[in-house]
Amino acid sequence: MIVMKDNIILIGFMGAGKTSVGKYLSVQRPLLDVDQMIEQAAGMSIRDIFASQGEEAFRRLETRVLKELCEDTEHAIISTGGGLPLRVENRELLAKLGTVVFLRVTTDTVLKRLAGDTTRPLLQGADKEQKVMALLAERNTVYEQAAHIVIDVDDKTLSQIGQELSEGVLRLQKKGQGAG
Ligand code: S3P
Repeated sequence: MIVMKDNIILIGFMGAGKTSVGKYLSVQRPLLDVDQMIEQAAGMSIRDIFASQGEEAFRRLETRVLKELCEDTEHAIISTGGGLPLRVENRELLAKLGTVVFLRVTTDTVLKRLAGDTTRPLLQGADKEQKVMALLAERNTVYEQAAHIVIDVDDKTLSQIGQELSEGVLRLQKKGQGAG
């Protein structure tokens, strides 16, 4: 896979820590958060976008923001929503945008981290465990396919994850594929 731009993009399931890892790394590079950009552009929360316009409309907004980032963003760390890599078009855009890092989590970690969360429309209602298990089973292969680097994040500190990420980027650079 040839990397076109020098951004680092964090992908992975809800609760994987994309935003936290992004903030941790933002001392090195400016942080852009796709979900936040969507909320700013729409003038409402993701929960309200899902409720008033539906998931498909939200997915279109994700693609639009990704296209904008592909046009003018360099040397940033970009945190994404957990469903963004699901569209083929988005995976192609991700590959152009930079080095894609998959933060991989287990069901237990997601449930622990998101207990009581009301902001993720896909995980509301009964049977949260079933929902997380089903979505993870469906998505993990997609995340793996989209990623240049995979990091298992359960029980790791931000500094350990940051270290693994830097090592992964360095390895890719040596192969002539990494973020600059
Ligand atoms: C979603 C993940 C959320 C947000 C939306 C949909 C998903 O982002 O984009 O609720 O489909 O997995 P986080 O992964 O940051 O929670």
